[in-house]
Formats: sequence, structure tokens, C-alpha cells
Amino acid sequence: MSDDGPDRRKFLKLATCGIGGAVGAAIALPALSLVVHPSRTQTVTTPRDPLDVGPAGGVSQGWTKIDVVAPEVRDAWTTARDVVLGAAYVRMKAGKPEALSAVCPHLGCPVGYDGKTFLCPCHDSRFGDGGETVGAGPAKRGLDPLPIEVVDGRLRLTWVRYKLDIPTREPA
Ligand code: FES
Repeated sequence: MSDDGPDRRKFLKLATCGIGGAVGAAIALPALSLVVHPSRTQTVTTPRDPLDVGPAGGVSQGWTKIDVVAPEVRDAWTTARDVVLGAAYVRMKAGKPEALSAVCPHLGCPVGYDGKTFLCPCHDSRFGDGGETVGAGPAKRGLDPLPIEVVDGRLRLTWVRYKLDIPTREPA
């Protein structure tokens, strides 16, 4: 005669469920974390520190367009070197460097400069010599100033991308 009482059967049932659940969780959790992993982490790393954009002596009092190049950009799988992040206009004013992003704050087209006025070819926004909006273009703010300084005779510029088509400057 078997002595399988209700308590033993109940225990075996619970133990089976517990062990099965633990094995299932051990398999499912790593698989689930693999699926959702990129959604919560920063997968592309662009430099937030100042970038060397050339000798300070090469910049005049008039706006000069320069490429902003990151020595290294990483994503989840690769590392790219010497990546052009964008362009900026730089000049010296009263012995201090100034920089404006060449990204149109309307929808992000590259802005040109004709010696007096910045002009966006996409929707005809115009900006004065200090980057302020002029005319009736759709841009809701002026060109974005970028932090720049001279260190040991070299220009060090911090590249910032701002949200587009809003009147305030909020980093993107
Ligand atoms: S993107 Fe420059 S005016 Fe629209």
C-alpha cells in the first residue's frame, strides 16, 4: 500500500512548479534582456568633451566654416575614427573665439554664409552676422552658439546638437 498522502502530493506538485519555474526563468530572463537590451542603454557614443578644431591663429575676424571631426565614435558593434559630426562657423572677436553651429535650427539643413548673412537654402531662413534671425524665414531661433575656447594656441570646440524647430535651445 502506498503512503502518498495529500501532503506529499501537494509538496511534489509545488516542488515541480517551483523547479519548472526556476528553470524557465533561468532561460527566459537572459533571452529577454538580450531582446530589450538596446532600448535602455546609450548605443552610440559621441564625444561630449571639447574637440580640437585647429590652430587659433588660423581664424580671422570673419566667419570661417570648419568641419567638426570626432577622433572616435562608438556604437554597440563598431568604433569609427575621424567622424565628421557637422560643421561650425568660427571667428575671433575682440581676441576671443566665437562659434556658431552650421545646422539650421529649423529642420537641420546646412547653413551657408555670404560674408554678411547666414542663409539656409532649404526654406529660406536667414540669420544676421551674430546668428540672430532676420527676415521672415521659418526658423524659430537664431543659429546655435557653441562653446569654444583657446587652449595652448589650439581651438577647442564642444559640439552640441539642439532640438530643431523650437524657440528654445534644448540639447537633442
Ligand atoms: S531647414 Fe533651414 S529654413 Fe528650413
